[in-house]
Amino acid sequence: MSLQGKHIILGICGGIAAYKSVSLLRLLVKAGAEVQVVITPAGKEFITPVTLSALSQKPVVSEFFTANTGEWHSHVDLGLWADCMVIAPATASSIGKMAHGIADNMLITTYLSAKSPVFIAPAMDLDMMAHPSTQANLRLLESYGNHIIEPEVGYLASGLTGKGRMEEPERIVEVLQKHFASTETMKGKKVLITAGPTHEKIDPVRFIGNYSSGKMGYALAEECASRGAEVTLVSGPVSLSISNPSVKVEKVESAKQMLAACQNHFPAVDVAIMCAAVADYAPAHPADSKIKREHQEVPVIELVKNPDIAATLGAAKKPGQQLVGFALETDHEFDNALEKLARKNLDMIVLNSMRDRGAGFGTDTNKVTIFTRESRKEYPLKSKREVAADIVDAIINHGCELSSEQ
Ligand code: C5P
Repeated sequence: MSLQGKHIILGICGGIAAYKSVSLLRLLVKAGAEVQVVITPAGKEFITPVTLSALSQKPVVSEFFTANTGEWHSHVDLGLWADCMVIAPATASSIGKMAHGIADNMLITTYLSAKSPVFIAPAMDLDMMAHPSTQANLRLLESYGNHIIEPEVGYLASGLTGKGRMEEPERIVEVLQKHFASTETMKGKKVLITAGPTHEKIDPVRFIGNYSSGKMGYALAEECASRGAEVTLVSGPVSLSISNPSVKVEKVESAKQMLAACQNHFPAVDVAIMCAAVADYAPAHPADSKIKREHQEVPVIELVKNPDIAATLGAAKKPGQQLVGFALETDHEFDNALEKLARKNLDMIVLNSMRDRGAGFGTDTNKVTIFTRESRKEYPLKSKREVAADIVDAIINHGCELSSEQ
């Protein structure tokens, strides 16, 4: 995998790990990338622009303008030029500024102007890394669609050992190479995603629903869109929003509405990911006006079965289309997941077990096992955005296997 011809902005902040940015720059250039270094004023205390400009063969950008000539450095032009921006090391201070738009140096203004994917490799002391404010800022950046390259556990400049060591340059290059390779595959692919719960009306003010937050489906939509896919997100009622403007969001309430939206889009898509927690039953006769407590006995609500959206799409699936489902199980997890994979004619099913801490509804993390008909892979507990990346990688790999068989 090469980075031939890719335009990469390498952002360097003021941390001791800045010495590793020199190796990172060398590796990026060796892999064929054209690299523009943007360094914070504090970064220059750790590493000199002379070394960086010699290796990148470009003047290093740090100030808003050149002092003696007044030449303006346009962060907007840089943001448009880049195919990706990687900030390594990203310090707690810069992470905080990026998360909150405090544009007081060239690196932050460039970050705010960047239209391309942004990769952030934090490096700091273990306690700074673990602090709730750092963690909240990282999750905020992730929710804006940025990719966090998590630091490693290891020996730190403070003399302590813990999580905070910047990921090794070789690994960061691999992450970028993987990103560009998968972007090539996903570019222009049409993806349909369902997310969130459905609400089934009892009367105008009450419904049957569930605890699904929609976070996993929204993370999947962001991930697919960041890799160049054309995403339609059919969403049940949730309080989330999508930051990538290219995702088309269609809001629905009930399972019937979700089915209608999916049937409308499915014939034209390459991949459909059924992430919604669809209510299994709906009231048979929703009341037109509010059911009053005073006027009647305890009401009995007759239920009817909702359509199975995944199974309906599975029955209509054409060769070349990939259909992915989810299974949230409390027991006999593997057997249940495999049974659903077959019954709904899915190509892949993502299992999360309610027995795993941090997995399932409402949390920001998830722990999944991904099954195809031929394979099973278990993943550790990760943020939902990272899980989304694993799922999209698995879809791409499976798609490649399918097309090489055809
Ligand atoms: O059967 P179960 O609800 O466990 O299956 C889960 C999978 O099927 C998920 O992918 C979910 O989005 C999908 N599903 C659906 N329509 C339903 C029920 C589940 O699309 N009525």
